[in-house]
Amino acid sequence: MRILLTGANGQLGQELQRVLTGEDVIPANRPDYELMDPTLSAKIAATRPDLVIHLAGYTDVDGCERDPETAYAVNAQGTRCVSEGAAKANARLIYLSTDYVFDGKKTEPYTERDPVNPLNVYGRSKLAGEEEAVKGCRRTLVLRTSWLYGVHGNNFVKTILSLAVTQPELRVVEDQRGSPTYARHLAQVIAGLIRSDVTGVIHAGGEGECSRYEFAKAILQEAGLGCRVVPISTVESGRLALRPPYSALSAAFLHQHGLSLPPWREGVRQFLMDRVKHMEPSA
Ligand SMILES: NC(=O)c1ccc[n+]([C@@H]2O[C@H](COP(=O)([O-])OP(=O)(O)OC[C@H]3O[C@@H](n4cnc5c(N)ncnc54)[C@H](OP(=O)(O)O)[C@@H]3O)[C@@H](O)[C@H]2O)c1
Repeated sequence: MRILLTGANGQLGQELQRVLTGEDVIPANRPDYELMDPTLSAKIAATRPDLVIHLAGYTDVDGCERDPETAYAVNAQGTRCVSEGAAKANARLIYLSTDYVFDGKKTEPYTERDPVNPLNVYGRSKLAGEEEAVKGCRRTLVLRTSWLYGVHGNNFVKTILSLAVTQPELRVVEDQRGSPTYARHLAQVIAGLIRSDVTGVIHAGGEGECSRYEFAKAILQEAGLGCRVVPISTVESGRLALRPPYSALSAAFLHQHGLSLPPWREGVRQFLMDRVKHMEPSA
């Protein structure tokens, strides 16, 4: 299958390329595949993909808050170009979206049917991207994930591990709960979805839930690091963009498609093992 992969050099993109080895994958990175380029849809159509997996986006949540114009240009209008390109090629589209489309007022995992109400610019621009994806291409699957981390790129897990060796204690938010998702596990789920013709919305996050504080403690425990972790509130953290206090994703619908992700803590263990291999010089 010919698959055009936007954001191929991002943390999930690199894992997907590793998993989709038997497929004809076209990595679609900047500058050739710039989301703000008005000729992008024609470029995508010209590659004649069977499937477009659209991962690229402006993913810096506080950055989006500071620069809403770019957030919408990349995450909404950029996604429109991608979906029009997919439609012109008569391809399927899988669009990666986020748990931040929810406001966090629930206390149990969000299902695909729950109403959306994003609290920040990132969430609103990704939701606009969901709408563009569905409007532009009839064969679209919106895949929402959460708290993503992997061996490539920067993320919460890597930040905790590097701060733990330089700081006497870490202050981590305890009033945000969600489902940490290991990028390699999510890539395997996406590989399981590429031959289905399912459309609509599916949630796919690491199984179970925890607070950011519990997540940090688990990372340090699994890594054998003894740094003290102090729970703080979201207000104390002083971040620019509001975050939902609760955004765990229900796996029930994903299970109906015969797919699942391991429990989130198993993701942390696997990440730590894979990270060692990733850091080893190749033979
Ligand atoms: N990270 C999370 O916690 C999380 C949670 C839920 C959902 N998601 C969604 O999952 C997807 C993958 O996330 P990720 O963490 O793998 O992303 P990431 O590592 O931040 O990578 C983002 C990718 O988008 C590309 N990109 C950014 N701006 C672009 C532009 N204007 N034109 C073309 N490409 C552009 C980047 O290219 P450069 O390398 O050139 O900058 C990079 O390849 C995203 O759609 C994100 O919204 C992420």
